[in-house]
Amino acid sequence: MPALFRPFTLKDLTLRNRIAVAPMCQYSATDGRVNDWHVAHYAGLARGGAGLVVVEATAVSPEGRITPACLGLWEDAQIEGLARVAAAIKAAGAVPGLQIAHAGRKASANRPWEGDDHIPADDLRAWPPISPSAVAFGGGLPRVPHEMTLSDIARVREAFVATARRARAAGFEWLELHFAHGYLAQSFFSVHANQRQDAYGGDATGRGRFLRETFSAVRAIWPERLPLTARFGVLEFDGRDEQTLAEAIDLARAWKADGLDLLNVSIGFSTPAADIRWAPAFLAPIAERVRREAGLPVASSWGIDDPHDAERVIAAQQMDLVMVGRAHLANPHWPLVAAQRLGLPRPTWVLPAPYAHWLERYA
Ligand code: FNR
Repeated sequence: MPALFRPFTLKDLTLRNRIAVAPMCQYSATDGRVNDWHVAHYAGLARGGAGLVVVEATAVSPEGRITPACLGLWEDAQIEGLARVAAAIKAAGAVPGLQIAHAGRKASANRPWEGDDHIPADDLRAWPPISPSAVAFGGGLPRVPHEMTLSDIARVREAFVATARRARAAGFEWLELHFAHGYLAQSFFSVHANQRQDAYGGDATGRGRFLRETFSAVRAIWPERLPLTARFGVLEFDGRDEQTLAEAIDLARAWKADGLDLLNVSIGFSTPAADIRWAPAFLAPIAERVRREAGLPVASSWGIDDPHDAERVIAAQQMDLVMVGRAHLANPHWPLVAAQRLGLPRPTWVLPAPYAHWLERYA
């Protein structure tokens, strides 16, 4: 049995294999609400055979959306649509996961295929972004955000908590806090974005405070028996990666003591000046280091689309789960391809019976 197809148990959940669909924004919502696109999309991905499907970054407040077309779960009326998504994923045998997010200074942008840049401030669709400090990301995201007050910080933390409660009400069993990719929480941690002089800035303890407080506040209400995870950028590719990584691993250790079940190891994306050398599965050694030094289960992503790479990083215990993104957009049945290439017995049965039977019978 290939390592990629061994079940993975975390808390009271067992995933049928080590393949997760990475969270991927669809930029297809109106007023943050799910529509038929989302239900069909996530049902199709879950039928493809992954053990876990993590639904895209879903905003904890309206100003926390990246674009006007992002999903949200800031009000109870948004629960019903996401409950349809969670039920469709579960009916196909995958664990339904949700990523909850606040976009911080990268908020109020156009959809990627419509520019991927800040909507001009005087456009009626725009809103004022917030961030730990009044420092713009730069590049195509030049808007200077409002520096958050202490009451803004408390409000966003409570928005994460209220959204987590709604996620549970919608039937999600796996929750991922989006603390990566230059969005709000990553901005608190990053020296590129955080210039605060108060308790939420300064050294790594201060820059990590919002992340730890928010995590713990969510942990207090998320069922103990279900996984609570975070996606976090542990380095920036900005020339100071050893220091950032050491600080990130310290934070991961603290999170573990606070009840974190798994860390989804990613990139900070806090500066447009990052120098990233993309290559297949290139974060695997970083994920392995976090896994070993923090003593936490980890998932990771970026360029894991060759089944043999996926098998290798799992078998070598560099990570516990592979998060496969774009390869799932190209082929929602990517786990079938992996099963065939890796020699899983009766590979078609990673798909549901109405597909598997015919593909096996007339192979
Ligand atoms: C993403 N990514 C992403 N990441 C995240 O944490 N939350 C999100 O909502 C999104 N949205 C998103 C949309 C689309 C269309 C893409 C392609 C990517 C990043 C994603 O989760 C993943 O890490 C990357 O795609 C890299 O993995 P692959 O594609 O190389 O397997």
